[in-house]
Amino acid sequence: MGITADIRPELIENHMRFSLFLFAAFFLTFGITELFKQGEDAIAQQILVAYATKYGATAEIAQKISDALNKAGLKTGLRNVKDIRNIEGYQAVVLGSGFYIGRWRREAARFLKKNEKSLAAVPVWLFSSGPTGKDDAEKIAEGWCFPKGLQRVADRIRVRDKALFHGSIDMSKLSAIEKWMIGKVGAPVGDFRNWKAITAWAEAIAKELK
Ligand SMILES: Cc1cc2nc3c(=O)[nH]c(=O)nc-3n(C[C@H](O)[C@H](O)[C@H](O)COP(=O)(O)O)c2cc1C
Repeated sequence: MGITADIRPELIENHMRFSLFLFAAFFLTFGITELFKQGEDAIAQQILVAYATKYGATAEIAQKISDALNKAGLKTGLRNVKDIRNIEGYQAVVLGSGFYIGRWRREAARFLKKNEKSLAAVPVWLFSSGPTGKDDAEKIAEGWCFPKGLQRVADRIRVRDKALFHGSIDMSKLSAIEKWMIGKVGAPVGDFRNWKAITAWAEAIAKELK
């Protein structure tokens, strides 16, 4: 029996099957790895639009900002700040909160402080939703447009811009004490959100990011 006698057709067939299997396994592994990489890239291109809200007005402003960014061709992740641990994978951040007695909601303030380092590494825009009434929002707020207690952290992050938008007060949603407070300061009640100003602000962000 010589060597040639061992090269039977079944052996050649098995060898070819095995090669084909190796070939398929290689391409499958390679393809899946590439797909994952593309997925990571897609997430890396996203802009986080995060908000803190008590009665929903700020959430709707964040939604409007997200819609405008999407319209400009940018991908967004719209999230309640309570549901986010960090900003990993986001290329830029827009963060907003409703104003309550001159402060941001606690979860938004905490998020800003806790993530200061990572926020300082990406472009960040902040917005607040608060003043009610027909006058200019900053005029109603008597000049201040951002919580004093967060000013230093915002400076360290070097935020691109801080916007103050009109808010919305729906008395039917408020607790008895809140109703009393609103009555006491005589804040106008109703929805004063300026969708045009909100959209224009988001469009300016999109321009900077493109
Ligand atoms: C009890 C209470 C306190 C508020 N304090 C402020 C304030 O200090 N400054 C301000 O501009 N707006 C203030 N507002 C208005 C809210 O910020 C506004 O209604 C905002 O749009 C609410 O957002 P949200 O529904 O997302 O929580 C207050 C509203 C309530 C009910």
